[in-house]
Amino acid sequence: MDFKALPKIELHAHLSGSISRDCLHEIWLRKREQGQTTLVDPLVEMPSGKFDYDLETFFPLFSRYIYNLCNDKESLIYSTNSVLQDFQADGVVYLELRTTPRAMPSAGLSKEGYVETVLKCIADSNNAPNSSMTTGLILSIDRRNDVDTAIAVVDLAIQYRDQGVVGIDLCGDPCVGDVSIFEPAFTKAKANKLPITIHFAEAPFSSTEVELRKLLEYQPDRIGHVINVPADIKEEIVKRKLGLELCLSCNVHAKMITGSYGDHHFGWWKDTGCPITLCTDDVGVFGSTVSMEYALIAEHFGLDRKEICELAKSGIDTIFASEEVKQKLRETMWSS
Ligand code: IMP
Ligand code: ZN
Repeated sequence: MDFKALPKIELHAHLSGSISRDCLHEIWLRKREQGQTTLVDPLVEMPSGKFDYDLETFFPLFSRYIYNLCNDKESLIYSTNSVLQDFQADGVVYLELRTTPRAMPSAGLSKEGYVETVLKCIADSNNAPNSSMTTGLILSIDRRNDVDTAIAVVDLAIQYRDQGVVGIDLCGDPCVGDVSIFEPAFTKAKANKLPITIHFAEAPFSSTEVELRKLLEYQPDRIGHVINVPADIKEEIVKRKLGLELCLSCNVHAKMITGSYGDHHFGWWKDTGCPITLCTDDVGVFGSTVSMEYALIAEHFGLDRKEICELAKSGIDTIFASEEVKQKLRETMWSS
């Protein structure tokens, strides 16, 4: 089954991880012609068909390669526009893109400048006459951050809220960091009514009872991955009916789950009443588009077209947008 034509929402997509290899290659070609890079070709660094990045190779791919290639305003604009076009071409009608504000000192770009640049691309995409997709921006706190950096992310979100920032995320290598230090940041986000989504129970290290209870204290509106969750915490999640962002291919390729697609915890969560949204996480790295994720779920969990349409709509109530936007989406997605 092909679900490109099905109107879909995507709520868990990291900007730098969503850049296609072709787009990275184009950026590299321009830089090489201008003598601005000594990096190897992205098509050599990330050969097409290679998706088996695990937790040990995935995070260094950004710090060692992608961030060194996309390190100026021109590449930020080019890659953001490309990511937006790719999601729209795949039939996404509502997108929440997330990114970690990153200063690019050599290019004279501050974190404010970074956020403004991404927001301008999003505004241009939202306002384009032929646009069929609405996008909002989530700002990510990285688990490696110190508390002041995390609070600064919340401050940026508050500052740019009326220009398209819709919420806060906690992401980064799940094998590092102590999430309890972020309490002041999440308290500030809540006090300012900023919606919160959190990477939750991604790896055994980040799935202790202490960590997960602390993260739930931060009152997230949605949680992502939800892989290694103890029974009592599952009960709490179900009781709260938290929105779940599930990333099938990413979890399989990165070996975050045992087994393959049919063993994914989507099977456990699907009948719990928690709204589920299928998400790509990092389509540039793992290569599976949103429509492909729906096809995989249909195939491995035996969902028919009607059940897939219901699934596609189930996350609408959990998006970080006004009731008016939700209502418009219900109308678009119901008539499909
Ligand atoms: P960026 O925030 O736009 O730079 O997107 C890339 C960043 O997203 C990476 O450096 C990670 O910190 C984060 N990220 C991407 N995928 C994952 C994931 O599966 N788990 C946790 N963090 C992630
Ligand atoms: Zn993620």
